[in-house]
Amino acid sequence: MAQILNGNAIAKDVKDELIVKIKKWVEEGHRPPSLKCIIVGDDPASHTYVRNKVKAAKYCGIDAETIQFDSDITEEFLLNQINELNNSEDVDGILIQLPVPETINERRICNAVSPKKDVDGFHIINVGQLCLDMPTIVPATALGVVELLKRAKIETLGRDAVVIGRSKNVGMPIAMMLHTDKRHESGLGMDATVTICHRYTPRPKLEHYCRNADIIISATGIPKLVTADMVKPGAAVIDVGITRVTDSEGKNKLVGDIDYDEVVKVAGAITPVPGGVGPMTVAMLMSNTFQAAKTLRDKSIVLQ
Ligand code: GUN
Repeated sequence: MAQILNGNAIAKDVKDELIVKIKKWVEEGHRPPSLKCIIVGDDPASHTYVRNKVKAAKYCGIDAETIQFDSDITEEFLLNQINELNNSEDVDGILIQLPVPETINERRICNAVSPKKDVDGFHIINVGQLCLDMPTIVPATALGVVELLKRAKIETLGRDAVVIGRSKNVGMPIAMMLHTDKRHESGLGMDATVTICHRYTPRPKLEHYCRNADIIISATGIPKLVTADMVKPGAAVIDVGITRVTDSEGKNKLVGDIDYDEVVKVAGAITPVPGGVGPMTVAMLMSNTFQAAKTLRDKSIVLQ
């Protein structure tokens, strides 16, 4: 049976370590880090995510506030609000919960957040710095996957990794950190040999790449995409997928991309859904917020 990577426990460790660091930071005379979460509209899932983020922030000693707008606000209005937060000395981290309504251009909004306050790591400058192995703010889910691998002591140097899914916020940054050189400036590189698979990777090829992999990371939202026959015995399997399904008894439940009940018998390590990567995302967002607070105060750190 595989080692179960308990995201809830590891995320708690990350947050508990942050509590200590933030307490020390405040004792040194700084105000607590401050996070503003903007949510536009009334999508219930988005509200749940933001509630969890604010709760985790408060747990860590971060001042967090939700700023709620109706779905009919204009893009210009939202840009002005972001600009005010960018210019406020009292704010370290800004996140705009996605998706935003279709009337608002998501990329324009992500690029409007000051790169130093962009705790989601979605700004074009932060994405560019990540791709250049420079110090930057990394999207929290990708950082959560890397932190899980590190804390579970899963070796990556020289090993074969497959990332399934190439989204700019998840698959791409994971693949970027996995394949890059640890000796480079960011220190995030993991020196693996990485194959990125996506919707146009033919199924037999996907199976072939996965069977060869020491590490499989799936981020597609397709339940049971990765089956036990695709997993090399002893491989580490990280499930970033999260899909709400109705089971045979009519109950709602969350499932990942991995056929967990079967893959757990073959893999060397596996993350469950829920309770794997999900809690890590929130924990790493808190870490990003503290990083932003420190960077904003420390004039010797030049991010871009
Ligand atoms: N919507 C889904 N995932 C995310 C995320 O990581 N950050 C933000 N801001 N919105 C999201």
